[in-house]
Amino acid sequence: MDEIEIQKEYIEKVNKINKNKDLKYAILTMGCQLNENDSEKLCGILEEMGYSKTCNFEEADFAIFNTCCVRENAEDKLFGKLGELKRIKEKNGTIIAIGGCMMQEKHITEKIRKSYPYVDIIFGTHTLHRLPQDVYEILKNEEKIDDVIDIEGKVYEGLPIKRFNNIKASVTIMYGCNNFCSYCIVPYVRGRERSRNPQDIINEIEKLAKQGYKEVTLLGQNVNSYLVSEKRNNPNLEYNVKINNKNFKINSFATLLIAVNEIDKIEKIRFISPHPKDFTDDVINAIANCKKVSKLVHLPLQSGSTKMLKIMNRKYTKEQYLNLVEKMKAKIPNVKFSTDIIVGFAEESEEDFEDTLDVVKKVNYEQVFMFIYSRRVGTPGEKMKNQVPEEIKHKRFNKLKELVESQIKQNNEKYIGTKQKILVEGISKNNENMLTGRTDSNKVVVFEGDKKLINTFVTLKITSEHMWYLKGKLY
Ligand code: 5AD
Ligand code: SF4
Repeated sequence: MDEIEIQKEYIEKVNKINKNKDLKYAILTMGCQLNENDSEKLCGILEEMGYSKTCNFEEADFAIFNTCCVRENAEDKLFGKLGELKRIKEKNGTIIAIGGCMMQEKHITEKIRKSYPYVDIIFGTHTLHRLPQDVYEILKNEEKIDDVIDIEGKVYEGLPIKRFNNIKASVTIMYGCNNFCSYCIVPYVRGRERSRNPQDIINEIEKLAKQGYKEVTLLGQNVNSYLVSEKRNNPNLEYNVKINNKNFKINSFATLLIAVNEIDKIEKIRFISPHPKDFTDDVINAIANCKKVSKLVHLPLQSGSTKMLKIMNRKYTKEQYLNLVEKMKAKIPNVKFSTDIIVGFAEESEEDFEDTLDVVKKVNYEQVFMFIYSRRVGTPGEKMKNQVPEEIKHKRFNKLKELVESQIKQNNEKYIGTKQKILVEGISKNNENMLTGRTDSNKVVVFEGDKKLINTFVTLKITSEHMWYLKGKLY
């Protein structure tokens, strides 16, 4: 029997044990969209095992944390929350499970076992699919479960999933990363690159389309390496997939985008994150030619200094990055960019930082995710000598923030008076009389309209800008 069939049997067994008990679970997700997508799978599993969701940990019979370790503050958050759970467990007998990236770090799991012995289940990124078995064993034996392994397994398909949104969905297309950027912990905790079979991805998206989803985001640490590792052993690898009675050959990220673009009722396709070093022309052409693929390209810069990019092991120079942007601007009408930037990595001088500001000015991003460098145990960056003092990191961060905010304001003003087609996602969080959605370039727009418009596309005329959102009127 295959692994997922075995786990489905455990789901059934736990479901029987839990029957008629009205049990509840609460989940805390830290980190990126990949983790969010993993949490959707965890919720799917827990719900099939007979737990229903609550947002209140105080009333949870099962508490689960899905952790991230990309930056330091997540650690403080986890240990703070774990402290709170002790009291809740004493009151309710709550089962506590912790999983995700941080559990792949030995010093963390050792700390949990030593200082937080009331945690019941620890599972890692390669054992998420075994949660049913872990829960069953806890219910039966009440012995602590340590289910973390270092070797990435195969890609598992067929786990239940409970999506957090009913209009937009994330679809993981590949797991792991082979790049080893010198600041980054991800390759150590998520293992090497493994791509999902294209047929499984297409089936999942076709099912989403049937359920009424309009937008999908294809996820991976390095999406433009999709199928690259698999092709190393088998250069002629190619999958034949049928969509709307048309045949598609899929052997790369570009061919996957072209195929997904054919799926009826899916109207918008986004993807995160590509790596600039792997951004091939076929992907640029696919973005240009596929109507549904968003023209907002997330292109992580990390630093604008060629010296820093070398230290970061990014494998491109400032000029190569800028040339890539220029090439895309020439080939993709209306292309826009967003990015990730780290300030204060080891060895970063004032001059290097100025190079980052220079690239930000030249590219003119729609959105910049800014991070202060955080030393991660076990990465090359951790051991580098010339670490940047905290106060300089903060100074640089604030300077970058100022530049980015002034650019966003300027860019926002260009939207005023334009027509924008947006997917209406729901009622605005801050004003229940307004609806909200996003432009193709991922800018939030609020406007007055009938609730019936939710989950449809509308055309708006943009009337004003408010830094983090735009206001519009139905056209
Ligand atoms: N410190 C700060 N930011 C980091 N990132 C990755 N590792 C670190 C780190 N150690 C940022 C990168 C990446 C984003 C997801 O997180 O910019 O693109
Ligand atoms: Fe980390 Fe670099 Fe891999 Fe992105 S590409 S996950 S930054 S190692």
